[in-house]
Amino acid sequence: MSNVILVASGKGGTGKTMFSVNLGCAISSFGKKVVIVDMDMGMRNLDMYLGLEGQVVYDTYDALKGICNTKQALIKDDNFKNVHIMAASPINQQEEVLEEDAGKLLEELKSKFDYIIIDGPPGIGKNIELVSPFIDIGIVVLTPDYATIRDADSVDSFLLRRRVKHRYYVVNKAVLDLEKRGLEVKLDEIDTIMKSKPLGAIAYDENIHISTNIGVPIVSKPDAYITKNFLKIAKRIMEV
Ligand SMILES: Nc1ncnc2c1ncn2[C@@H]1O[C@H](COP(=O)(O)OP(=O)(O)OP(=O)(O)O)[C@@H](O)[C@H]1O
Ligand SMILES: [Mg+2]
Repeated sequence: MSNVILVASGKGGTGKTMFSVNLGCAISSFGKKVVIVDMDMGMRNLDMYLGLEGQVVYDTYDALKGICNTKQALIKDDNFKNVHIMAASPINQQEEVLEEDAGKLLEELKSKFDYIIIDGPPGIGKNIELVSPFIDIGIVVLTPDYATIRDADSVDSFLLRRRVKHRYYVVNKAVLDLEKRGLEVKLDEIDTIMKSKPLGAIAYDENIHISTNIGVPIVSKPDAYITKNFLKIAKRIMEV
């Protein structure tokens, strides 16, 4: 089983945190234990998208540097019983995090969870570099415009150089009507540009925007077409 997943992007705001949350909840609905780790230090969002912001005491940085033990930094989601999260530090870390700190934390999380989803910062920063040796699956979230696709391809090339075994991309905020009218980059064309494999496409939908804003993942709605889409994506990941 390939169980350490990095969710990355070239540009900011493509939907990494939204994707990490809903993928994690979708995988958990198959009875798997999931932890979603916010590595976007200084830009904490993950806890908000699950409505857990009131429960953060210790964060990923504290767990990485041994300021608390791993269990103390884990927050349980009451709505998705197989999901835990680790929030990012609200400020940038004072002391340097080392690759061995990341390796130790991930090893411990592997012993407790079936899947570890790392919600990364945009681009290729220090935190992405130090977790890269431990990643089994790299997923780059992009939106269908040329600049974002080019930056996504650069991040994917970095994952390739770092020998990440399984590399995918997800097209988010796709607008079918614009694609049909030739006003948005077509999925086929994105696939010719990207060197990794397509994992799925997620439509631009105001309900997704509302869901992150109110802190209730969109996959909480069992019959929504977006939920079905996420369940399909989750199944693909579990087959890797
Ligand atoms: N498919 C979608 N349809 C509509 N809105 C979306 C969709 N995906 C994400 N959003 C919205 O876009 C915004 C950015 O999403 P998100 O925070 O997940 O991006 P991110 O890549 O994690 O950003 P950052 O790079 O800052 O970490 C949020 O307001 C979210 O609700
Ligand atoms: Mg984010």
